[in-house]
Amino acid sequence: MKVLIVGSGGREHAIAWKVSKSEKVDKIYCAPGNAGIAEVAECVNIGAMEFNKLVAFAKEKEIDLTIIGMDDPLVGGVVDEFEKEGLRVFGPRKNAAILEGSKAFSKDLMKKYNIPTAAYETFNSPEEAQKYLETSKYPIVLKADGLALGKGVLICNTKEEAMDGVKELMLDKKFGASGDTIVVEEFMTGREVSVLSFCDGKTIRIMTSAQDHKRAGDGDTGLNTGGMGTFSPSPFYTDEVDEFCKKYIYQATVDAMAAEGREFKGVIFFGLMLTAEGPKVLEYNARFGDPETQVVLPRMKNDIVEVFEACVDGTLDEIDLEFEDNAAVCVVLASDGYPVSYEKGFEIKGLEKFAGSDEYFVFHAGSKFDGDKIVTNGGRVLGVTAKGKDLVTARANAYAATEWIDFDNKYMRHDIGKAIDEA
Ligand code: AMP
Ligand code: GLY
Repeated sequence: MKVLIVGSGGREHAIAWKVSKSEKVDKIYCAPGNAGIAEVAECVNIGAMEFNKLVAFAKEKEIDLTIIGMDDPLVGGVVDEFEKEGLRVFGPRKNAAILEGSKAFSKDLMKKYNIPTAAYETFNSPEEAQKYLETSKYPIVLKADGLALGKGVLICNTKEEAMDGVKELMLDKKFGASGDTIVVEEFMTGREVSVLSFCDGKTIRIMTSAQDHKRAGDGDTGLNTGGMGTFSPSPFYTDEVDEFCKKYIYQATVDAMAAEGREFKGVIFFGLMLTAEGPKVLEYNARFGDPETQVVLPRMKNDIVEVFEACVDGTLDEIDLEFEDNAAVCVVLASDGYPVSYEKGFEIKGLEKFAGSDEYFVFHAGSKFDGDKIVTNGGRVLGVTAKGKDLVTARANAYAATEWIDFDNKYMRHDIGKAIDEA
C-alpha cells in the first residue's frame, strides 16, 4: 500500500513511524512533513490547507490511504474533498469535525444527549456576555467557539478579568472569527486525562490513557502551550473511571453524532476532567493529540493501518486494540522563549543515538534540513519519548535521553510525569 500523511508535527512523526511498522505498507509520503519524518517517509512540499494539491497528489501517486493528522484541514473539510474524488481517507468529514471546530456545537450536543460536562451559556453578543458575567460565580471559564491553536480558553478569577476576556475574544478579536461566539463555562477542578479513540461511525475503540502538561513552566506555571510533555497511562484513569466513561461518555458521543446525521469516522480525543462529581468532558478534539500520540502509539501493539482501514470501512467491531503493559513518557525539547518569541535555525546534534530503537524515540515537531544538517525550526522542536516497565522508569529513561540531544536555546520542563508520584 501507499500511504499519505498530512501534517508536519511530532504527532505526524509518531503516526508515520507507526505506519512504517505496518506489514501492509510499501511507501509513505508526508505533506509537508519535517526533517524527522523524512527518515520514514518521502516529504512533499504541499501545505496541509492546499486541498486541491493534496487531492491531485493522491490521485497522481495512486495513494491507497490518506491520514489527516491536523485539526485545521479536518475542520475545513479536506476529507470531503478526498471522498468526492473517490479517494480513501482517514478522518472525520467537515460535518463531524465540527465536534472540535465549534465549542458551542459540542456543548449543545453534550447537553442534548446528557453527556457529562460543565454547565455553560453561549453568547454571540459581547454586551450580553458581560451582563451575564456581572452576577456569575468566580472563577469562570471563557472559550472562543472556534479553533484558536488551543489558546482560546481563558480562566478568569475575577469579574474584571472576565470583562477584559470578553473584550479580548469578542471585540479585539484576538483569535479572529473564532471569538464571534463564546462559551462561558463553569470552572471545574480535578485531574485532567486525555483519552484517544478510533471510531468508524458506529463503533468506538478506546486507546490507552495519557496526560499532557500544557503550561510552559515547571509546576504548571507560565503560559499555555501546545503541550510540553506527556505520560501514558494515567494512573488516575482507574477501572472505575473507565467504566463510567464507557457508560456515559464514549459510545454516547458516537451515537449522538450519528443521531445528528454527522457520522464520526476518525479519532475522537476526549479531554476529561475527573471531578468530585465524576468524570466530565472538558473538550473534544477530532484528531490525535499532540504530544499524546507520542506516548500512546509507541505502546500500541496493533498494525495501525489495519485499524485505520477498519474505521474507513465501518468494520471496527472486528478489531481489538492492544497496548503493551508498560509506560511511556515524552519530554518536549523547545526553543527557549516558546510560546512567545524564540530564535531558530540552530543545529540539532545527537539525533543518531535514537536510530533503530524501539524503547527510545525522538519525534520531530519543528525541525528542517539546512544542507546536510538538521536545524531547529519552531517553538516545539522535538519530543523525546522513552518507554519503561512503569511510569517512574519511563520518566527516568526519557530524561536521560533528553541529554543525548544538544542545540542552542534548548528548553524543557523538568517535571513531566511528576504528578504520578502522587498516585
Ligand atoms: P480546552 O481547550 O477546552 O481543553 O481548555 C484548555 C484547558 O483549560 C484545559 O486543558 C483545562 O486545563 C482548562 N479548562 C478548560 N475548561 C475548563 C473548565 N470548565 N474548568 C476548569 N478548567 C478548564
Ligand atoms: N495535547 C492537546 C491537544 O492535542 O490538543
